[in-house]
Order: sequence, then C-alpha cells, then structure tokens
Amino acid sequence: MTTQPAPQPTTTDPLRDSRFLRACRREPVDATPVWLMRQAGRYMAEYRSLRSKVSFLELCKNPELATETTIFAAEVLGVDAAILFADILLILEPLGFQLEFSKGEGPVIHNPIRETADVDAVRPLEDVEALGYVYEAIRQIRAGLPGNVPLIGFAGAPFTLACYAIEGGGSRNYQKAKAFMYSDPGAWDALMAALTDSTARYLNAQAAAGVQALQVFDSWVGSLSPDDYRRFVQPHMRRLFQMLDPAVPHIHFGADTGSLLELQRDAGGDVVGLDWRVELDQAWDRLGRGVGVQGNLDPIVLFAPVDEIARQTRRILGQAANRPGHIFNLGHGILPHTPVDHVRALVRMVHEFSAR
Ligand code: CP3
Repeated sequence: MTTQPAPQPTTTDPLRDSRFLRACRREPVDATPVWLMRQAGRYMAEYRSLRSKVSFLELCKNPELATETTIFAAEVLGVDAAILFADILLILEPLGFQLEFSKGEGPVIHNPIRETADVDAVRPLEDVEALGYVYEAIRQIRAGLPGNVPLIGFAGAPFTLACYAIEGGGSRNYQKAKAFMYSDPGAWDALMAALTDSTARYLNAQAAAGVQALQVFDSWVGSLSPDDYRRFVQPHMRRLFQMLDPAVPHIHFGADTGSLLELQRDAGGDVVGLDWRVELDQAWDRLGRGVGVQGNLDPIVLFAPVDEIARQTRRILGQAANRPGHIFNLGHGILPHTPVDHVRALVRMVHEFSAR
C-alpha cells in the first residue's frame, strides 16, 4: 500500500500578494493600486476634530492616536496602502534642532544652521530609539490594519531635510540653503552625510518594526539644476538607497523633478514618483522599464467636478496602459479643503477603470 503524500497547503501571503506590493515589484495586478500622499490630514473633519484637542507634534508622538489616524484614513478611502502618520521633520529633533509646528506658519526650526561650526554639532543619529514612538506606532498600525493592506514607512531625503535645517522653515527659493551649498561644499557634504546616515538608520528601524515599503520624500529637490543635483545631492542619495533594507521596496519621491528623473532613477529606488508637470508615458519611457512609477494626478484636480476627475483619471491610466509597475497617486500631497467625497470617488474610479 502506498501512502498518499499529504496535500501541500497553497502558500499565499495576502500582504506580499497585495496589489500595491505586486506593483512595486512590477508584477501584473487585477487593478491599479492607489493611495494618496497626505491621505490622513486636515481635509478630513475627523482629523480636524482630533487636532482641536492635541497639537500636531503630540499627535505624531502618541502611537495610539497616530494608529487611529492612519487606519481611519485608509479605511474611509478604500486605498490599497496605508501610510504611517508622522512627519519628515521629526528626525530633526534628536539631531539637535528645536522643531515647532506653529499655526499658520507651518514648521519652524528655532536654531537653524547658519555657519560651518553649526554643522559640526549635527551628529548622525546614534540611538534610533530616540524615535521609538514611531516604531511603536508602526507595530500598532500593523496589528490593526487588515492583513492585505501594506503599510508604508517614510522619511525626508537629505536635501529636503537640509533645506529645512538651514532655512529654519519653509522657503520659496531655498536661497540660504543653496548659498550654503555653493559657498561651503565641504560643510554641505558633511551635513548631507550625517543626514544620510541618520535617515538610513531611521528607515531601516521602520522596516524592522513592520512597514512593507519605504518612501523617501525629496520634496524640494526640484529647485536644483541637473548639474547641481549631480554634484551636491546624487552621491548622497545613491549611498542612502544602498544602505536601505533590500527586503522592502523603495519609493523615490520628488516634485517638480521633470528635469531630474533619470538622475533620480540612477540614485536608486524601485519606484520613482512623478508629478503632473510630466506626461506619465513619456516620463516612464525616459526612465525605462527597470523601475515602476507612482503618480501623477494634480492634487488641484480633486477640486474639479467629478466628471473632470474621471477624465483625468482615465487619461493617466491610459498612459500607464496596464504596464506592470504603476501605482496611482497624486503628484504631491492632498491639500486642505479637498472634498472628501471627491477623494473617495477617485479611489473607486481608479479601481473601476483599471480592472483587468
Ligand atoms: O501622508 C500622510 O497621510 C502621512 C503623514 C505625513 C505628514 N507629513 C503629515 C502632516 C507625511 C508623509 C508628511 C510628509 C511631509 N512633511 C513632507 C513631504 C511631503 C510633501 O508634502 O512634500 C513635508 C515637506 C513635510 C513638512 C511639513 N509638515 C510641512 C511643510 C507642514 C506644514 C504645511 C502643511 O501642509 O500643513 C507639515 C505639517 C503636517 N504634516 C500636517 C500633516 C497632516 C498638517 C499639520 C496640522 O495638522 O496642522
């Protein structure tokens, strides 16, 4: 008598097989995955109500509240991925900067870098546990999210963080940061190296805590010429991506980077962010099929009537043409006052129009 081999259980991993992670690996999907930068934020009444009770920094540092905020937004919108509720500037605190989010003004750094000696005081993050509240939020979010919804961790890119550290807040032209870069390239490189090391450790600690993907936000890098990017930023970005945990996909985001896309791709990342100033199909042709793309609806289109949102959604999906590796998103974050029902309609339309 022969014994039958026990039937092998089919091993499916709902997280690994999620649309979002499949798209990050440029594998075919049943419909285009969609999530939205700043999907949890002031355009939602529930968020505003929470913020009337706690400050933004308190919210970021309270893992229970950050968890609730993250999961609520992902659920209400029906998106294919959640993004950790936090901010790119939090890492500046353990690096010695006094950070404040003031009403109306946005982020302020009270002790910005002004001279070479200030850079010497910036040490790479020694103890990643200084941001322990972020990893605790990640553990709680992961435990609370449905088993097939990936969680995205993130950090600011060194250039964007350096802009804040030098300007002391938001800026129109990044005049102080760029002047510092040109006049003291040695100190600039030291600062960028310290920020790169710190960011890599921070992102890898997020991966260890349980995120399924890492997005690097180089929000202000579009202010640089290609030559300046090559000289002052690209070597650091290359080193950053080399240091990141290869077990999770890496998304390389920038805005206003139409002239930098190839340089950004060469620096690293499995997926490159595109904003609405480029045609998705042309940009993807330039990047080649070795990377995925994320984008690229103009966030302002969400203020348009739903039929216009539908038209633009179809256009973008048409340009992506069901090629594996497209993640639908906005070209930049959702703005305050965006109608929530338009955001929900967008998510539904992406899924409906792209169903294979
Ligand atoms: O996307 C999400 O839902 C996750 C949370 C998230 C926030 N900030 C929450 C936030 C993420 C991923 C960020 C990233 C971030 N923060 C970036 C990169 C993305 C981009 O927009 O380019 C940047 C540049 C920052 C810095 C920052 N944080 C600014 C300039 C501001 C003030 C301007 C603004 O939009 O309010 C913040 C505050 C901030 N970060 C808010 C939120 C929800 C609003 C704070 C509030 O509640 O008043």
